[in-house]
Amino acid sequence: MTNIALGDGWELRPWRSSDVQALVKYANNRNIWRNLRDGFPYPYTLDDARTFTERVAVESPVTSFAIASASEPVGGISVQRQGDVARRSAEIGYWLGEPFWGQGIATKATLAIVEYAFARFDLVRLHAGVFEWNPASARVLEKTGFTLESRERKSVTKDGQTVDALVYALIRDEGHEDR
Ligand SMILES: CC(C)(COP(=O)(O)OP(=O)(O)OC[C@H]1O[C@@H](n2cnc3c(N)ncnc32)[C@H](O)[C@@H]1OP(=O)(O)O)[C@@H](O)C(=O)NCCC(=O)NCCS
Repeated sequence: MTNIALGDGWELRPWRSSDVQALVKYANNRNIWRNLRDGFPYPYTLDDARTFTERVAVESPVTSFAIASASEPVGGISVQRQGDVARRSAEIGYWLGEPFWGQGIATKATLAIVEYAFARFDLVRLHAGVFEWNPASARVLEKTGFTLESRERKSVTKDGQTVDALVYALIRDEGHEDR
């Protein structure tokens, strides 16, 4: 079991099949879907939750974690390793249930997954792509020590608009002093 304590009762832990109700409760939200790739469904149904938890529950090592309190999962965070010549890179992705926004939880979760990713895998680079209308996520990455590397102009079509993506990256042993 891979559980990572975040403090204040929060943790990263593997997803479980019993998480599906809470997953739907928090993931079925247009304000979350709007900031993620289309693979994250909206509406987010119980079937979507079952398919997702069944897929990630068997992962070893774990790459997709629930952000959870003692009672329920309220969000998700993942490290997706890239292949071929990018095999020492991984993409970080995350979302949090809207009732919990603005409490620093995503920042704690991102700091923890950075530590985990560099400790567990032979990686030198982590990156994340943020849609231009998402300053909260850009701020999470900045607080975690990521650097804005590029603006991919008009690279994202989401929710009826074609917008820029901001690419943030963190190189191993660089960045946040507290890491
Ligand atoms: C992005 C998200 C994960 C942030 O979670 P969170 O737990 O609220 O984040 P934190 O509280 O750790 O940090 C948010 C920061 O953004 C800032 N922020 C929030 N809204 C902002 C806005 N409109 N403009 C500028 N900064 C903003 C907050 O003030 C805070 O920074 P601070 O600590 O310097 O004050 C959450 O909003 C979410 O799940 N959004 C939908 C999915 C998503 O965007 N995923 C990321 C895709 S790249």
